[in-house]
Amino acid sequence: MTAHPIVPRPGRALRKGAVPARTIKPKARTSLYSAQIGLLGSENAFRIGPQIKVLEDRGLKVIKCNLGEPDFPLAAHIAEEVKSQIDLGLTHYCDPQGILPLREAIARTVAQRRGIEVTPERVVVFPGAKPPIGLAMQAYCDPGDEVIYPSPGFPIYESFATYVGARPRPLHLREETDFSFGGRDLAPLINPRTRIIILNFPSNPTGGVVTREQLGDIADVIKRKAPAQVRVYSDEIYEDILFDGNRHHSIASLPGMDERTIIVSGVSKSYAWTGGRVGWAVFPTADEAAVFKNLNINYFSCVPAYNQMGARTALESPLSQASIARMCEAFAERRDLMVAGLNAIPGIRCRNPGGAFYLFPNIAGLCEHLGAIGAHRKLPIKDRGRTSPSTLVQMFLLWQYQVATMDRRSFGRIGSDGLHYLRLSIATGLEDLKTGLQRMRAAAADRDGFQSFIREGKHLW
Ligand SMILES: Cc1ncc(COP(=O)(O)O)c(C=O)c1O
Repeated sequence: MTAHPIVPRPGRALRKGAVPARTIKPKARTSLYSAQIGLLGSENAFRIGPQIKVLEDRGLKVIKCNLGEPDFPLAAHIAEEVKSQIDLGLTHYCDPQGILPLREAIARTVAQRRGIEVTPERVVVFPGAKPPIGLAMQAYCDPGDEVIYPSPGFPIYESFATYVGARPRPLHLREETDFSFGGRDLAPLINPRTRIIILNFPSNPTGGVVTREQLGDIADVIKRKAPAQVRVYSDEIYEDILFDGNRHHSIASLPGMDERTIIVSGVSKSYAWTGGRVGWAVFPTADEAAVFKNLNINYFSCVPAYNQMGARTALESPLSQASIARMCEAFAERRDLMVAGLNAIPGIRCRNPGGAFYLFPNIAGLCEHLGAIGAHRKLPIKDRGRTSPSTLVQMFLLWQYQVATMDRRSFGRIGSDGLHYLRLSIATGLEDLKTGLQRMRAAAADRDGFQSFIREGKHLW
């Protein structure tokens, strides 16, 4: 191992050419990985994929309510555009910021829907709406800075805040207020270390939406308490998935907020195109966009240009609105069926989400009835922290009844103890959802089955 020279303390600089009297050997590290990588969380919706595969390989049919992926095909007019662009040879490196025709389309659409002015210089295209989350934390946070994010919320917010050494500050959303919040809830979390405030309406995992009045209240608090360089990261990836006549509102539309807000969206949900990997962000200034362009250059160079042309068609074609409307109608029908069905199961209480395609039922009664809370309490201390009562129910549903759901802990660990919820994605066909409901009803009545599942102890997290 090479020995490194001692770094002289300030004021004790070595003279040019002088050789240090002593050298210190760096401490031998025993682990392969850096300490920092150990801080990175994950998105469990992807992690339970291999468990589902094990069950499917046994010939079992799993009802997949775990993934946030619309079960609709990519609309033909978008697919045709992608294919023709490949035929035209748009298969090489392209602008790391995003090709201009797409950035122009994004600027036009975002500006028109939000009533603000947007230039293509402020737009950056990413491989999905997920990458700008981590990149924003790298760009704006130093260790010790604080990131405020909704909890329950998309798990990558907490994962990346921790990873970059920022202090995660969850804003706990309450069922009683339909998992929404106002300025009063946000205000106590803002302090001089705050760098990013994440908003996500319509929300994953709760389907919570926000009114313009609520956003006005939130914006007032931000303008009053947060310095101008604090960035509001407005994750609007579910902007088109709304029910009951709800309309999408963006905080960027409110006076004085455009210059503080990063507006994020993409094609994954609105156009059922999770495999397209096209997302975007509109930054407050072209200078900030340039920083993110450089991050793109460092990480992945660019997003495939043929998919970007498909995304432009998605945004601009008059055919797109009809496919979005059909998808939302289907989600609304499934939501109605599932909310009623879940509420009919003793121990489950489920609110009607206003948008996105998730249900977030409270299963505290079910945990109690099955004995999940007691079972969790009795686990050896080393195992207890790896799981939770709702995780035990999630695992029981998966392994014994083949219904894949997600537990509360998967949507922000910090402060999640004692909260008993599941997330069910309704981006699955109606017949499968009906089967899923029947299986959940049977599972909820199977206390003995649950207890022997716990005794077996094979899949407790
Ligand atoms: C709130 C939220 N933001 C971002 C993403 C990432 O979207 P994409 O697939 O475009 O990367 C998701 C995906 O589930 C999400 O739920």
